[in-house]
Amino acid sequence: MNFETLAIHAGQAADSATGATIVPVYQTVTFTQDALGADRGFVYSRSGNPTRQALETCLATLEGARFGLAYASGMAAVAGAMQLVKAGDHVVVADDLYGGSYRLFSKILPGYDVRFSYVDATRLAEVAKAITPETRMVWIESPTNPMLRLIDIAACAEIARSAGAWLVVDNTFATPYLQNPIALGAHVVVHSTTKYIGGHSDVIGGAVLVDDEALHAKLKFAQNATGGVPGPWDAWLTLRGVKTLALRMRQHDANAQRVAEFARGRAEIAAVHHPGFPDHPGHALARRQMRGFGGIVTIEVAGGAAAARKLCESTQLFSLGESLGGVESLIGYPWSMSHAAFAAEEKRRKGISEAVVRLSVGLEDASDLCDDLAQALDRCRAS
Ligand SMILES: Cc1ncc(COP(=O)(O)O)c(C=O)c1O
Repeated sequence: MNFETLAIHAGQAADSATGATIVPVYQTVTFTQDALGADRGFVYSRSGNPTRQALETCLATLEGARFGLAYASGMAAVAGAMQLVKAGDHVVVADDLYGGSYRLFSKILPGYDVRFSYVDATRLAEVAKAITPETRMVWIESPTNPMLRLIDIAACAEIARSAGAWLVVDNTFATPYLQNPIALGAHVVVHSTTKYIGGHSDVIGGAVLVDDEALHAKLKFAQNATGGVPGPWDAWLTLRGVKTLALRMRQHDANAQRVAEFARGRAEIAAVHHPGFPDHPGHALARRQMRGFGGIVTIEVAGGAAAARKLCESTQLFSLGESLGGVESLIGYPWSMSHAAFAAEEKRRKGISEAVVRLSVGLEDASDLCDDLAQALDRCRAS
């Protein structure tokens, strides 16, 4: 079956108790047992809940994985995946990554004696060079946040595999509609379902998907032991979002292309980063490993920090806010928002200057979005 069908049906058979067509919200802590040791597949909702299970099965299917685990947030999913490593292990991380993941890797996990090396993973030789005998994991995002660089997933998987390490891909930006890391050789896929998968900016969540049974057993044990699971309402809302993921991603992609082209034509914008441009350095790789280019456009404002800040405060349709991937367009300032966890020199080294503005292009009419940016840029020039 194809993606659109699976998004609506995988893990979502009619309810066995009532025939309800839509998976019900199983708002229960516990499940009555028929006799001691005789349960009906569910015991206690931290360990497993039917609404959550429907979401987990659906997301795993969409990622081409056999097993899925849902978490209370994307960061809980990131932390869940990191429970695969132990004290003394080493992790190679693509340095262009979500600030919250970096905060966990740099401020919390070193306290548990997990060591990290940060590399520019667009250069595969750097990934290979950073591997040590203790390396258990390679962690990447592609396209990266916010600079939209492309990292070769299949090549990183090969480097990780030959070192006896796992490749983890945070696939939040691409979504399973546009990219399936497991098919490219990755061992673990992580999502903040808060973004495109939920899609409506009304529910926080995360997921980890794996195809390997032993990896799933480790993750499942750790998830139950640490307890960062979503409640059934959040799982249900996320599942409702998943049903339209394909339709939404097609439109996000088309709208982002329009906005990127519009931005390129404006003198107030010094650079536009979007993998859909044929002259983007990752364009050929994106064509190879993705089925589209996604809904994010990152721009560098010619007037520097002041103009970038002014732009963020001048749009009317694009809301100034954290997050991305919802039906509504958002404008964000990575310097002090999503990437605040990085030191200033670190941000500059990655190209995240004070002139960088990130646009999460939503599903409004693309002409309205371009008009909004035009009026905001006019206001920046006038001030
Ligand atoms: C790429 C990426 N991974 C993980 C996260 C964390 O997700 P959450 O905010 O749902 O905890 C985010 C959040 O912005 C993200 O952009």
